[in-house]
Amino acid sequence: SDFIDLAVIGGDGIGPEVVAEGLKVLEAVSAAKVSRTEYDLGARRWHASGEILPESVEDELRGHDAILLGAIGDPFVPSGVLERGLLLKLRFDFDHYVNLRPATLFTGVRSPLDVARVAPDGIDFVVVREGTEGPYTGNGGALRVGTPAELATEVSVNTRFGAERAVRDAFARAQARPRKHLTLIHKHNVLSYAGHLWRRTVEEVGAEFPEVSTAYAHVDAATIYMVTDPGRFDVIVTDNLFGDIVTDLAAAVTGGIGLAASGNINPERTAPSMFEPVHGSAPDIAGQAKADPTATILSVAMLLEHLGRGDEARRVQEAVAADLAARGDAPRSTTQIGDAIAGRV
Ligand code: IPM
Ligand code: MN
Repeated sequence: SDFIDLAVIGGDGIGPEVVAEGLKVLEAVSAAKVSRTEYDLGARRWHASGEILPESVEDELRGHDAILLGAIGDPFVPSGVLERGLLLKLRFDFDHYVNLRPATLFTGVRSPLDVARVAPDGIDFVVVREGTEGPYTGNGGALRVGTPAELATEVSVNTRFGAERAVRDAFARAQARPRKHLTLIHKHNVLSYAGHLWRRTVEEVGAEFPEVSTAYAHVDAATIYMVTDPGRFDVIVTDNLFGDIVTDLAAAVTGGIGLAASGNINPERTAPSMFEPVHGSAPDIAGQAKADPTATILSVAMLLEHLGRGDEARRVQEAVAADLAARGDAPRSTTQIGDAIAGRV
């Protein structure tokens, strides 16, 4: 359709600043009429009213085509309150089981790695991080807190259903890419129950994708490969926590979290998908126009792709690539980067 009905959650810290630039680029590139509804969620609302995500707001969010989110998190809100009550709640309730995180080293972007040596053919992979299970479900508890006998458990939940749908999505993505290669990252030498479930799932779903080659890496070894031989990865599939960790490393080796985009995707479209930069709210630089909006702009490209607007998505990616290739060392403000990219689409 020629109408995009977008929910916008700027959130905390630099969130609103980078989201403004993402929207600027969206308006510049899209032939669609964009309707945006801003939702005041995050630290400010919590401080003012104690509200995190009222049910009525969640119901409203459900009605939009997609959600663009800046960042959630604030040093003056107790750890976990907003993360669990807002971000993870949306990921779980909207069934964002594919947390898609591309890692591409663009031309002109400096990596901390000696890329000519460790990745002469470049770095270009994508992580399918399972988004609704693992140790993120809040399944655990504590006993005798504050005593020497304190005990805490944090149970990782892995269902065949949950692993299988993430794995199948990852295979389909691998199938559509030139190298057709899928790596499962886990830790089956220690986490045997879940590890076995994931391995078997990859083996069995793999039978449906005979053209896709598969590999396995323990998560600790995978962090070495990501630094010493990142070119080996094409599509990675992994659980929620391993995926959280390896995608920060993936961002670091491809130019930093200022460039890392993500999509929390509900492939069946039973609820809106949510697109957000991988970085957080960066309260230390909030309000100073120092944040790089590129990750948010690339997240807008993922949003367009998800809404079936592949041409517009590619134009955003190309504009970002051109901007990155032309970037010198002169510092630019958040708005200047957004303007430059919007000017190129
Ligand atoms: C991310 C973040 C979140 C996560 C936090 C803020 C809950 O680190 O999006 O990677 O762990 O998923
Ligand atoms: Mn993270």
